[in-house]
Amino acid sequence: MPRQLFVTTALPYANGKFHIGHIMEYIQADIWVRFQRMQGNIVNFVGADDAHGAPIMIAAEKAGVTPQHFVADIAAGRQQYLDGFHIRFDNWSSTDSPENHELARQIYRDLKANDLIEIKAVEQFFDPEKNMFLPDRYIKGTCPKCGTKDQYGDNCENCGAVYAPTDLINPYSALSGATPVMKSSEHFFFKLSDPRCVDFLQEWTQDGKLQPEVANKVKEWFSVRTNPDGSKSEGLGDWDISRDAPYFGIEIPDVPGKYFYVWLDAPVGYLASLKNLLEKRGENFDAYMAQPGLEQHHFIGKDIVTFHTLFWPAMLKFSGRKTPDKIHVHGFLTVNNGEKMSKSRGTGLDPLKYLSLGMNPEWLRYYLAAKLNAKNEDIDFNADDFMLRVNSDLVGKFVNIASRAAKFLPDGKLVESNEQSQAKAANLLQLVAEYLDQREYGKAMREVMAFADGVNSSFDAAAPWKLVKEGKTQLAAQISADAMQMFRVMAACLKPVMPGVAAAVETFLRCEALTFKTAATPMVTGHQLGNYSHLMQRVTQDQLDALFESPVEQIRAQAALEFVANSSAGMPLSQPSPTSGRGSDQGGEEFAPLITIDDFAKVDLRIAKIVNCEAVEGSIRLLRLTLDVGEERMRNVFSGIASAYKPENLIGKHTVMVANLAPRKMKFGISEGMVLAASSADEKAQPGIYVLEPMPGAMPGMRVK
Ligand code: 2FM
Ligand code: ZN
Repeated sequence: MPRQLFVTTALPYANGKFHIGHIMEYIQADIWVRFQRMQGNIVNFVGADDAHGAPIMIAAEKAGVTPQHFVADIAAGRQQYLDGFHIRFDNWSSTDSPENHELARQIYRDLKANDLIEIKAVEQFFDPEKNMFLPDRYIKGTCPKCGTKDQYGDNCENCGAVYAPTDLINPYSALSGATPVMKSSEHFFFKLSDPRCVDFLQEWTQDGKLQPEVANKVKEWFSVRTNPDGSKSEGLGDWDISRDAPYFGIEIPDVPGKYFYVWLDAPVGYLASLKNLLEKRGENFDAYMAQPGLEQHHFIGKDIVTFHTLFWPAMLKFSGRKTPDKIHVHGFLTVNNGEKMSKSRGTGLDPLKYLSLGMNPEWLRYYLAAKLNAKNEDIDFNADDFMLRVNSDLVGKFVNIASRAAKFLPDGKLVESNEQSQAKAANLLQLVAEYLDQREYGKAMREVMAFADGVNSSFDAAAPWKLVKEGKTQLAAQISADAMQMFRVMAACLKPVMPGVAAAVETFLRCEALTFKTAATPMVTGHQLGNYSHLMQRVTQDQLDALFESPVEQIRAQAALEFVANSSAGMPLSQPSPTSGRGSDQGGEEFAPLITIDDFAKVDLRIAKIVNCEAVEGSIRLLRLTLDVGEERMRNVFSGIASAYKPENLIGKHTVMVANLAPRKMKFGISEGMVLAASSADEKAQPGIYVLEPMPGAMPGMRVK
């Protein structure tokens, strides 16, 4: 009987483009799904945008569009990534879909009927400047568990702790920089501390659905303990599932002005996307979910384990629904030993840039597969290692076999092959299938490459090119046919990881679709192959250099190219190029004398986010800026730009500041740095002050150099 599998990946917030961390998770799941399908299992693999929540509402407001419009724009950009990396979801929906509204509200009603919803008054942070309750993500402060600064109000990106915003040490509003005040409001809670929930979860989290290291971590959350900061944890606490208007989300039934917290309806989005898919196909969602053998698998990152191992299974269980069968947790991806790919700081390897450089998506799929295992462990993308694995494993070992063997098959026909090799091939297929099923992709890839080494060594030892010279063409053909049979078996093993290459192999070999079963039977003697054409290019150093070139370097390189092009077109070098603008009056003043790079390095320029900006009473020249420079605190800076900007037009923008300028005491307070702005010394000829704004993507605290 084929397995029935319902597979999901975490639903990405619809407030940003995919970064490499998303792509890594989707590739991991896609490999598993493709493998299961090759085994004849039946899979529904769905994703969706996580559309709700205050951050999206606020981002939409800033962009001057409705949240629905904002989310639709983000959704429109998804497919190019998915297609580009050969990630094939069966459906991509949104948590703002009608199906999700309906399902989330029904689950809530069921929990309420089961006496698991409670209303409690909650003292909550309120931004006195913005006049609203502050969403968790807009309160920052120091993690109460591990002491890491600048953490969000709902969970810590460093230690993974989940807490209430009020637990933060030294909280501040990320919207205005103001110190929030406490205000009371009625909130709805899911009674996770109810003994029914605790008993259920204690068993559910420890009976093999989680990786052992994850299950061990989760176990700690049930116990009463003392935290490193001396505070006490009481075991499972009730979960606050409501948020007050204004909020972009699903309204709680019969409670106008109260909405489900985004994390209540986000996982329901898994079911909603599936329902949407099944209904499009004319199938029944309830009947599908009621199948006795149905397996529900969620692939997620290690930062959202709590939601998927406590809240989500309990919501499902106590609303009378099927609970997940496996939660597959992966670690973070770092790039070149760099910073982790967090949701808010997706830096390092830009997936679209990768594709735009003509880099093969299957190189990345293979590389990630070679590094991934079934554990909750971080992995690193390393450019040198990537080049080595692609060029030496894929091209040098695997593809090379077909290219070498094709030369010695008379008329491209297979002669009788070797039975011993077939036995080894059967063994490889079985081993690789086991590893892929267990998500031990690295082990699977190593087996395939060790096998390729063996095939290449036998081929080298037999040296068919010498045999041909000696007139032993039949023997040369046998050796090559054997290598080609083995090549097909390896292609089958790699198919879930490299579906495009596998399809090209199927065409070249003119064989039926490769599965772990079909590949176990060799192609028949006399089988006619197609024409061999090279199956995969090597990755080049130039491609990798371009991939990791910073945008600034890119602009400089582009400018240099334009300059050279203009110069060689007969333009004297001392003339400014047409692209450099007017250029003749030097902004009304002479350029300063030359400095060394060391002189320049003394000036610490940083990207700053203007979190607040206001007029300064008593000054017509100055604005008071509250700047986030990626520290745990905000900086106060006075800037003489009031003639050029209305304060509200600067809020939310990024700029560049001198971060190591000694603080200056001014009449209105202390100024802790200087914001960079351009102006002409000849104000009459060229009026105006222009505050510097970086290209999109620059984050507070990044150094400008
Ligand atoms: O952490 C995140 O990016 C969330 N948007 C994941 C949600 S997963 C599921 F619950 F929807
Ligand atoms: Zn922490």
